[in-house]
Amino acid sequence: MASHHKLVFTGLLISISMQWTLSISEEELHASYWNNKARQALHTALNVQPNIHQAKNIILFLGDGMGVPTVTAARILKGQLAGESGEETSLVMDTFPHLALSKTYTVDQQMPDSAGTATAFLCGVKANYGTLGVTAATPRGNCRAVYGNEVTSVLNRAKKAGKSVGIVTTTRVQHASPSANYAHSADRNWYSDSDLTPEAIQNGCRDIAYQLVHNIEIDVILGGGRQYMFSNTTQDPEYPTYTGDRDDGQNLVAEWLKNKKNAKYVWNKAEFDAINPANTDFLIGLFEPKDCRYELERHASMDPSLTEMMEKAIKILSKNPKGFYLFVEDTGRIDHGHHGGRAKKALYETVEFDRAIGRAAELTSELDTLSVVTADHSHVFTVGGYSARGNSVLGVSRVLADDQKHFTTAVYGNGPGYREGTRPDVNETISSTNEYRQQAPVPLDSETHSIEDVAIFAKGPMSHLFHGVQEQNYIAHVIAYAACLEPYENCDLPPPDRAGSIHPSLLLLLMSLLLLSLCSV
Ligand SMILES: *[C@@H]1O[C@H](CO)[C@@H](O)[C@H](O)[C@H]1NC(C)=O
Ligand SMILES: *[C@@H]1O[C@H](CO)[C@@H](O)[C@H](O)[C@H]1NC(C)=O
Ligand SMILES: [Zn+2]
Repeated sequence: MASHHKLVFTGLLISISMQWTLSISEEELHASYWNNKARQALHTALNVQPNIHQAKNIILFLGDGMGVPTVTAARILKGQLAGESGEETSLVMDTFPHLALSKTYTVDQQMPDSAGTATAFLCGVKANYGTLGVTAATPRGNCRAVYGNEVTSVLNRAKKAGKSVGIVTTTRVQHASPSANYAHSADRNWYSDSDLTPEAIQNGCRDIAYQLVHNIEIDVILGGGRQYMFSNTTQDPEYPTYTGDRDDGQNLVAEWLKNKKNAKYVWNKAEFDAINPANTDFLIGLFEPKDCRYELERHASMDPSLTEMMEKAIKILSKNPKGFYLFVEDTGRIDHGHHGGRAKKALYETVEFDRAIGRAAELTSELDTLSVVTADHSHVFTVGGYSARGNSVLGVSRVLADDQKHFTTAVYGNGPGYREGTRPDVNETISSTNEYRQQAPVPLDSETHSIEDVAIFAKGPMSHLFHGVQEQNYIAHVIAYAACLEPYENCDLPPPDRAGSIHPSLLLLLMSLLLLSLCSV
């Protein structure tokens, strides 16, 4: 696009002599541009054919806290990082053909959390706030009420059906979202035995780290969470002032490695890079004592990125001819960025998350792999306020507020961005820093989740079942059905499409070449 016209807007308020420039591509001024673009989209839509084969592989991407406003803002950020105005950019997830909305409330709360929601979309049953892998008959914190109320995850059912299974996350692997894949716990905070309440100990409940090792054989486990695996006398290898968190003296990594062939434990990037997927069948990588660092602050020499972890996982798991189930969560850090009222961290994490989704598409085939991207819940985060086209998504409005001060277009409904007294003025230099907290009218030391629906993006076998406005637990059912897992073993779907034989787009190309050669005769 050679010819960019510069349109110059003058601020609506003249109190400050400031000019806002924005670039609009010249072609957007013509009806033909929009008509052609829409015609192409229509053509694509008319050619969407549901794939009614069984899914061999399943990848569930969870953007923890990745509400629709976060997706929109991350899309703009991605474009702006590439030097574009951003609004017109597409995230990889934007290109998925099938979408639905997910109602995220838990049985007891309008505003959900990651544990109750993970139970819904991973196990297929709605639960209470703060509980994992149990029905709503288990009140939070009541260990005794766990027994008999356990629900089974799709990961568990995939393993039973002979698939390889894995968990990749940038949070601790015992965190609420990943742990609903394998644990049953009345409280999401029972990370290690030292977190258990007297009632939980008395009634024999096990901590989440213990369950990670003992409940289901998980082939690949990558993320943070080292401290919950080691005894309180074991020094952390990376931070010598840290020790493990376990009072029971157990070394759960050693437990996990026991009786496994071709199994490895790694805790840093060099060891991780040395893992050859071809001769590794089981891999546990724990790169931080608790959560991994924000992508913005990652030590690239010490910790692999989400994309790198996911890539290694897919290469190990896809050796199984029966296929695999992989849970990929970035965004523990999207959620944590928002809780801290720091939009920049949440949005950069979301862009990295989308990059992982793109990389997964290169490593798998849409013909036999069902990919689902969703969020557990949203946040009280939004972007607005008279922002011009191409305005930095972390920048300020082009008009002043009624108090004659600037304001960021990204804001929170509550949280630590609240300031006592008069509202501080702000400029883009300040609002673009990593630590900047967008303003919020309600003081809370942690910004809250939101109750609004979140999106489900899907592609691959049976992905067309994601349509309409659905309860969140519907997700686990579609995944189980698509892969003919319990309770849908009799799904009656034709066997997985043989990916890798001939790609449909290649077939199309061959056919059009054939047609061309016929026409030219
Ligand atoms: C470590 O665990 C032991 C029990 O094995 C306990 O007595 C002790 O208080 C724990 N230490 C810390 C620092 O938590
Ligand atoms: C932004 O605000 C800070 C703090 O008031 C100030 O030091 C800085 O010069 C301002 N930057 C711009 C570009 O106006
Ligand atoms: Zn949260």
